[in-house]
Amino acid sequence: MSAVLRIGHASLKVMDLDAAVAHYKDVLGLTETHRDAQGHVYMKCWDEWDNYSLILTASERAGLNHVAYKVRDEASLDTLHKRIQDWGLAVTVLPEGTLPGTGRMLQFNLPSGHEMRLYATKEQLGTEVGSVNPDPWPDGVRGAGAHWLDHCLLMCELNPEAGVNTVEANTRFMAEALDFFLTEQVLVGPDGDMQAATWMACTTTPHDIAFVGGPTSGLHHISYFLDSWHDVLKAADIMAKKKVRIDVAPTRHGITRGETIYFFDPSGNRNETFAGLGYLSQRDRPVTTWTEDKLGSGIFYHTGDLVASFTDVYT
Ligand SMILES: [Fe+2]
Repeated sequence: MSAVLRIGHASLKVMDLDAAVAHYKDVLGLTETHRDAQGHVYMKCWDEWDNYSLILTASERAGLNHVAYKVRDEASLDTLHKRIQDWGLAVTVLPEGTLPGTGRMLQFNLPSGHEMRLYATKEQLGTEVGSVNPDPWPDGVRGAGAHWLDHCLLMCELNPEAGVNTVEANTRFMAEALDFFLTEQVLVGPDGDMQAATWMACTTTPHDIAFVGGPTSGLHHISYFLDSWHDVLKAADIMAKKKVRIDVAPTRHGITRGETIYFFDPSGNRNETFAGLGYLSQRDRPVTTWTEDKLGSGIFYHTGDLVASFTDVYT
C-alpha cells in the first residue's frame, strides 16, 4: 500500500490570469475557492472535497510550478520524508500555511527536475452535493463539469546518447520511495529494453502519474475525470463553442484504455478530459508493455498514428 492517496493539486503558470480563470471555470467547470495576497487563484471541481486542486499563478510563460500528492496522515509524511532522503533526493519542509488551508509540505525535485510536493492536510469544503443523501450531480454545473483532477503526465528528459533517462529514474523513485506501482510502459531501443514512457498508480485506476521521455523536462498535461464517453463528446462540443484550441479530438488511448480529448488552456498548458476507468489497477496485475512499433496504437488506438504536436508541444 502506498501512503499516497492521490494527486492533490497542480500549480500552473499562466500568462493571462483572467483568461485562465475563465477557461478553467467555463470550459472545465471548476469553481474559484480562494485568491491569496499574491493574486494566486485556487480552484476546485464540484466532486472534490478538498479546498482546491488547481493553483493559477501569473507568469511570463506557461508551465508547471509544482504537482502535489496527498498522503494519508501526518505520520506518513514523516516516514516518507526519511524514505525520500534515503533514496537520495533533498527534501525541504514547507511549514503549515505556506499554501492556504494546507498543512506542512515536503518539497523535492524528481530526478527529471519537476518539483513535487507531498502533504497530508488540506481544509475540506466538501463536494457540491454534500455527503448526506447526495444527488448524483449538483445544479448549475458549468462547461464539461469535470469531476476531479485525475492525473498528470510529465515530459522527462531522455537522452540515450548521453546516458540520461529520467523516465526510468522517476519510475524507480516513485516505486521505491513512494510505493507507486507500474501499470504500463513503452520499451524502445535496439534491445527493446529502454523505458521511454511509464504509467504508474497508487490507487486502483490505471494511472495517477505518467512520465514520457522528451528532449527537455516539462508539463505534458493535467487531466480531469468525466463520467462517460458521452461526456467526453459533450466536452468537445463545449470547447468548439468556446473556441478552445483542441489538440486531439475525442478518441481512445490504447494505453490505459482512456477515452480522451486534448486541448490547451489560453496560455498553452495542455489539458485532458478523460473518461473510463480503464481497468482495475492492482499491484499484482502483469505490467502492460507497448513496443516501439506499436507506440502509435498505444497513444491513439483508432488510427495508430502519432500526432506530431502531441509529442513535440508541451510547456
Ligand atoms: Fe492523461
